[in-house]
Amino acid sequence: MLSSLAKVAALALMVDATSAAAITVSASRIAGSAVSDVYPPSSTSANPSLFPSEPVVGFPGPTPTGLEAAAAQTAPAYPYNNGPAKSFPLVAPQPHGVSTFGDNFDITRYWGNLSPWYSVSSADYGLPNASPLIPSGCTITQLLLLYRHGARYPTSGAAPSTFATKVANAARVGFNVTGELSFLANWTYKLGAELLTPFGRAQNFNLGVEYRQLYGELLNNFTTQGAIPVFRTQSQDRMVKTAENFAAGFFGVPEYLSQVNIEILVETPGVNNSGAPYEVCNNSNVASRGSIGSTVAALFANNAFNATLARLNSEVTGNLTFTPTDAIAMLQLCSYETDALGYSAFCPLFTVDDFLNYEYYFDLSFYYNNGPGSPVSAAQGKGFLEEWLARFNHTIPPANSALNETFDNSTTYFPLNQSIYADATHEVVVLDALTAFNFTALFNGPPLNYTVGNEGTNTFVASKLVPFATHFTTQVLSCPARNQTKQIRFIVNDAVIPVSDSHPGCPVDPDGLCPFNTMISALTNRANQINFNYDCFANYTAAPGHDYNGRAPTS
Ligand SMILES: *[C@@H]1O[C@H](CO)[C@@H](O)[C@H](O)[C@H]1NC(C)=O
Ligand SMILES: *[C@@H]1O[C@H](CO)[C@@H](O)[C@H](O)[C@H]1NC(C)=O
Ligand SMILES: *[C@@H]1O[C@H](CO)[C@@H](O)[C@H](O)[C@H]1NC(C)=O
Ligand SMILES: *[C@@H]1O[C@H](CO)[C@@H](O)[C@H](O)[C@H]1NC(C)=O
Ligand SMILES: *[C@@H]1O[C@H](CO)[C@@H](O)[C@H](O)[C@H]1NC(C)=O
Ligand SMILES: *[C@@H]1O[C@H](CO)[C@@H](O)[C@H](O)[C@H]1NC(C)=O
Ligand SMILES: *[C@@H]1O[C@H](CO)[C@@H](O)[C@H](O)[C@H]1NC(C)=O
Ligand SMILES: *[C@@H]1O[C@H](CO)[C@@H](O)[C@H](O)[C@H]1NC(C)=O
Ligand SMILES: *[C@@H]1O[C@H](CO)[C@@H](O)[C@H](O)[C@H]1NC(C)=O
Ligand SMILES: *[C@@H]1O[C@H](CO)[C@@H](O)[C@H](O)[C@H]1NC(C)=O
Ligand SMILES: *[C@@H]1O[C@H](CO)[C@@H](O)[C@H](O)[C@H]1NC(C)=O
Ligand SMILES: *[C@@H]1O[C@H](CO)[C@@H](O)[C@H](O)[C@H]1NC(C)=O
Repeated sequence: MLSSLAKVAALALMVDATSAAAITVSASRIAGSAVSDVYPPSSTSANPSLFPSEPVVGFPGPTPTGLEAAAAQTAPAYPYNNGPAKSFPLVAPQPHGVSTFGDNFDITRYWGNLSPWYSVSSADYGLPNASPLIPSGCTITQLLLLYRHGARYPTSGAAPSTFATKVANAARVGFNVTGELSFLANWTYKLGAELLTPFGRAQNFNLGVEYRQLYGELLNNFTTQGAIPVFRTQSQDRMVKTAENFAAGFFGVPEYLSQVNIEILVETPGVNNSGAPYEVCNNSNVASRGSIGSTVAALFANNAFNATLARLNSEVTGNLTFTPTDAIAMLQLCSYETDALGYSAFCPLFTVDDFLNYEYYFDLSFYYNNGPGSPVSAAQGKGFLEEWLARFNHTIPPANSALNETFDNSTTYFPLNQSIYADATHEVVVLDALTAFNFTALFNGPPLNYTVGNEGTNTFVASKLVPFATHFTTQVLSCPARNQTKQIRFIVNDAVIPVSDSHPGCPVDPDGLCPFNTMISALTNRANQINFNYDCFANYTAAPGHDYNGRAPTS
């Protein structure tokens, strides 16, 4: 239901948009009249021979399933829809010990890339009065969405399964646990790998529902063109399911099967794909280049959890001693089990400080692996940036990054006239893209300190930018009252991103708007400055503690 105020606002917008043609106003615009839904255009349908399905495309990656959840029987609390966990239907307990946050500490917001996405405030980045609602005097004409898959199991070989093996080995010799660790005596490892969890499916479905509610009117543009959109994703099983769940939320079931073409791009080593650039960017995994963040995050974790480790080690006897690596593994089990099974007995082992340090562990990892502290993040985000520019420029994008020219050099696979674009990808790629787009307001402050811990001097927080189902939105707007009618702005998880300091020519604007042509020219310059071949393949050495603006040092 719209509030009556919102109805008036909606009506005002409608009147504003059509005021020039007021004399010829059609019956469909008469107040109170009903208009029929016009999407999809007649005689259109998805084309599975041009856009083949997951089994035809192949390259789904590993797909080990997990064991079934049984929260109704085993969870310590029922997932009431008015309970303390803001991410229904997850159950999130309060941390161990006394909390300065009272009993309102939402642990799920301190899980870095394992957090469920939550609304971020524009004020966090310097636009205290901005709203993601279309600014008054403007109407939206085009929308571009880059979004991440929802909650998944751990990736293959991640810390939780290693920890489970360690516990199983100790159990064969025999160990005893007491107090809050008692559950470990009977704990079993239930997680699969790589796949979306039920909650993860819901996140992408709900995002589709939300975007249909917010922007469904833009579908009328397809009706005028007599075409249906192409939405893109990668071939990994969770990526295909992500795009399908998003489309199911957006178009409905079974309409999503016929009202959109889902393009599945192969994700595998050596194959170009703007949604998986690390597959063709050799330096992305080199310790002294693309994975500085993993190293400094592990260094930080070595000292961050001592008090809790001492407490937990005092509650176990036998051949089992918990290390800093295990602290991270158990915190990850808290996140992954909650995201997959609905709750986790590992969560209440950790204090508020532990969760704050866990978030900072992810902050370090992402700032230096895929943010401005990485020498190879802008290069990896360049493919998406070039595609973004190409869509607005109505030209084939240049083949000088990870994008796949075979597809992008074809308006069938890479249409240039859509009013709605939706691309699914991974969180690392979302962050690479935000870096490539030079959104420095998201990383405002000195490089993150990995020795003393979180100094709180940088705006970057991983769970705000790279959580499950994170989404980066471009709004193209028509604002007749402005000097330049065509305007553009950017939103990440509901926070409007200021661009006046980072995009030459963009004025200071409380709504984050910039004239369209000014932005295209600023981002074209930025794209031209990013040297994919050098950053991804050259032999240079980078170090933590720098803000490289996502690009390789050249000296
Ligand atoms: C573990 O399982 C055993 C056997 O079912 C049971 O007796 C014991 O109470 C359980 N321990 C805990 C801590 O749940
Ligand atoms: C583009 O994608 C196709 C199909 O997946 C693949 O065969 C080709 O190798 C890719 N191009 C490049 C340059 O990686
Ligand atoms: C934390 O424990 C590690 C050993 O795991 C030790 O080297 C380090 O000095 C301790 N740090 C603090 C701050 O106590
Ligand atoms: C565990 O407790 C049992 C029963 O008290 C005892 O027999 C056994 O030695 C203990 N094992 C360890 C490793 O502490
Ligand atoms: C104790 O654990 C360590 C490491 O987990 C392992 O290497 C060792 O073999 C274990 N000792 C026994 C007696 O099982
Ligand atoms: C935009 O299109 C023009 C020609 O219409 C072309 O010269 C230019 O390189 C294109 N820019 C980008 C970023 O693709
Ligand atoms: C697009 O692909 C066709 C066929 O591979 C090729 O002939 C043409 O040069 C390509 N155009 C561009 C702009 O890359
Ligand atoms: C549909 O959207 C595209 C992209 O914004 C735009 O170029 C075109 O003019 C629109 N068509 C109509 C009829 O609004
Ligand atoms: C419009 O242009 C005028 C004159 O150049 C300038 O003073 C004013 O600030 C501009 N307004 C906006 C909203 O950019
Ligand atoms: C990126 O933003 C910074 C401000 O944070 C600015 O100094 C720089 O010129 C921008 N780079 C480009 C290529 O626009
Ligand atoms: C990269 O540069 C370093 C330092 O100059 C040198 O030691 C190393 O051999 C070079 N590696 C390659 C593969 O060229
Ligand atoms: C971290 O802070 C410490 C203490 O202020 C300082 O000595 C160190 O240089 C800082 N490191 C980085 C990478 O900023």
